[in-house]
Amino acid sequence: MKIAIVGAAGRMGKKLVELANGTELEVVSKIDIAEGYDRTWAPGTEGVVDFSHHTAVAEGVAKAAAEGIAYVIGTTGLSADEQRAVDLAAKQIPIVQSSNYSLGVNLLIELVNKAAKTLDDAYDVEIVEMHHKHKKDAPSGTALMLARSVAEGRQVDLAKKAVYGRQGDVGERPRGEIAIHALRGGSVVGDHTVMFAGDLERIEITHKAQDRTAFAAGALKALAWAKGRKAGIYTMRDVLGFA
Ligand SMILES: NC(=O)c1ccc[n+]([C@@H]2O[C@H](COP(=O)([O-])OP(=O)(O)OC[C@H]3O[C@@H](n4cnc5c(N)ncnc54)[C@H](O)[C@@H]3O)[C@@H](O)[C@H]2O)c1
Repeated sequence: MKIAIVGAAGRMGKKLVELANGTELEVVSKIDIAEGYDRTWAPGTEGVVDFSHHTAVAEGVAKAAAEGIAYVIGTTGLSADEQRAVDLAAKQIPIVQSSNYSLGVNLLIELVNKAAKTLDDAYDVEIVEMHHKHKKDAPSGTALMLARSVAEGRQVDLAKKAVYGRQGDVGERPRGEIAIHALRGGSVVGDHTVMFAGDLERIEITHKAQDRTAFAAGALKALAWAKGRKAGIYTMRDVLGFA
């Protein structure tokens, strides 16, 4: 399968190119705004993996939709308009979109959902993520996926329950709040903890990514899975058979 990597000069892009080498996936275009890279993909490309910047995604999915090829989005931090462009393109092509392509985090999402269904809102939910100092968006797309999983498990509207960090005289913690905190520093690949804090006990479920290969391998698997599927938006949970 002939594939293109968007964001090929980046931390994830380099891993993807390295990992695809020696598999049945042939990287025919390495796309990036950096010097020495392709600006678009070659004719005959059969699928695209995008780990770049949110401003690149709308154009990428529109081009893929016009050509009828599968698109895997790892890029996070999309605006509402950019997400609408993705949803529109998904009417024509298969798109896999996930803020985290690792097996472990997708399992974490399932576990957190089960915990949220089992424990009532006497257990306060605090989600803490930490990433390297170069990460541009906050909180991480993965932290948001985890928050959505908690909200879904509790059958509440996340927009009404979410709080992002705390500062100043915020008063007592309201029951049912779902709090999300973003830490940045050093070279941390990606840590996520979901805490259910009750009066008598506390449960903490943690995932720590040790190497970006975990994400790159999942994204390449997702592209091979998506090829030839009917149009629509899929997640890594679909690819792994969890959904
Ligand atoms: N879904 C996941 O599993 C997962 C895992 C890790 C990172 N990410 C996300 O992937 C993205 C990239 O992460 P990274 O750590 O590799 O970042 P990075 O900054 O190292 O790399 C991004 C690359 O994209 C390039 N780029 C920027 N604008 C572009 C454009 N318009 N067209 C083409 N290329 C462009 C940059 O030049 C850079 O080389 C981020 O959004 C990050 O949050 C997702």
